[in-house]
Amino acid sequence: MKPVMVVVGTRPEIIKMAPVVRALRKSKIPSIFVHCGQHYDYNMSQQFIEELELPMPDYGYRLKAYSQGVQTARIIIHMEKLLKNTSPALVLVEGDTNGVLATTLAAVKLGIPVGHVEAGLRSFDLRMPEEHNRRLTDHMSTYLFAPTKTAENNLKKENVWGKIYITGNTVIDAVVQHLPMAERKSKILETVRFKKFALATAHRAENVDDFNVLKNFMEAFAEAPIPVVYPMHPRTKKRLQQNKIYAKIKKKGNLYILPPLGYLDFLVLMKKCEMIVTDSGGIQEEATAPPIRKPVLVIRLSTERPEAVKAGFATVVGVEKKQILNAMIKTLKQRRELPEKSPYGDGKAAEKIVQIIREEIGF
Ligand code: UD1
Ligand code: UDP
Repeated sequence: MKPVMVVVGTRPEIIKMAPVVRALRKSKIPSIFVHCGQHYDYNMSQQFIEELELPMPDYGYRLKAYSQGVQTARIIIHMEKLLKNTSPALVLVEGDTNGVLATTLAAVKLGIPVGHVEAGLRSFDLRMPEEHNRRLTDHMSTYLFAPTKTAENNLKKENVWGKIYITGNTVIDAVVQHLPMAERKSKILETVRFKKFALATAHRAENVDDFNVLKNFMEAFAEAPIPVVYPMHPRTKKRLQQNKIYAKIKKKGNLYILPPLGYLDFLVLMKKCEMIVTDSGGIQEEATAPPIRKPVLVIRLSTERPEAVKAGFATVVGVEKKQILNAMIKTLKQRRELPEKSPYGDGKAAEKIVQIIREEIGF
């Protein structure tokens, strides 16, 4: 029987595919687990495979590339070779990274069907590399696992060729599956001792590659009304260093920079914080998970996660210092009651996806 190939390449893909890898193993459908190499630092990659107790990838690559084009092209080259050698029945990709686009291109050109987990998200902001990747991937996929009705509608409007299923988002499964372990094992609260704090992350290219926006973020965090705990993505650290302000900003006001954290530590901080301030995609969803339920200030001009906004969890506040500070002050004052349920499902998305694969591929 030909296997299903699960491909990951970055931190959020490992986290969101972890429940799928587990559900596939439980179902006894043969599978191959591949790391395409987009993220390569231990704390952006291998750390998650170990912490989430995933199998070591059957095939793994290390890739350092200095442009989006080279990164995408290199992944196409090694994925094409691997796909030829392993002939999977289906390739599963997750999200909107360059690795997802590259893997999908390599597969469809060999006539191998692709299942896109988290299909149909749209920010309608064409500055974002992720918007190009998700649109193209959706149009090449045979099976589209849309997390919500909104995502399904986006796909229908674009007349995608593949079959669409609404499954929920596997990130809710990930939170539910890992939070008990996180609360048992994480020691992060021995380091982060604030009674009240905001948790921040920022790494989107259209934000941190623009020095004005990057500066707005750092100044807003430094002047915030409560401490801002900020596990910093390597892209952002690199930009601060290139602009020679990293050393100065590191000890400024209420800003507390940490290295990128493991998932268990990050889950504990999400659970403990007063609010989340972020431009991350996955974190907007995790904030809606029933065991987390936190307000999220989205420091961007748009979001491809409107469900979190509609449900009352997320607010798109923009990228100006004043907007961010005002929104933080308002959130602290308001203490709004948040819904019990997540718009991203009930934590059973991975099981649904695997059941669909079983029926469609005939395992
Ligand atoms: C990528 C994804 C983004 C996702 C994010 C998850 C694309 C276009 N972007 O963004 O959608 O939200 O991953 O975190 O695919 N770097 C390191 N070590 C690493 C990884 C990256 O130092 O392990 C630094 C390098 O300087 C690298 C830069 O970060 O050039 C950008 O990495 P890249 O994977 O291209 O994009 P991300 O910003 O991580
Ligand atoms: N995350 C983590 N450690 C950190 C920051 C984030 O484990 O220091 C997790 C977070 O809980 C979420 C995922 O990484 O599941 C989000 O990754 P990121 O923000 O890099 O990517 P995006 O979701 O924006 O694509």
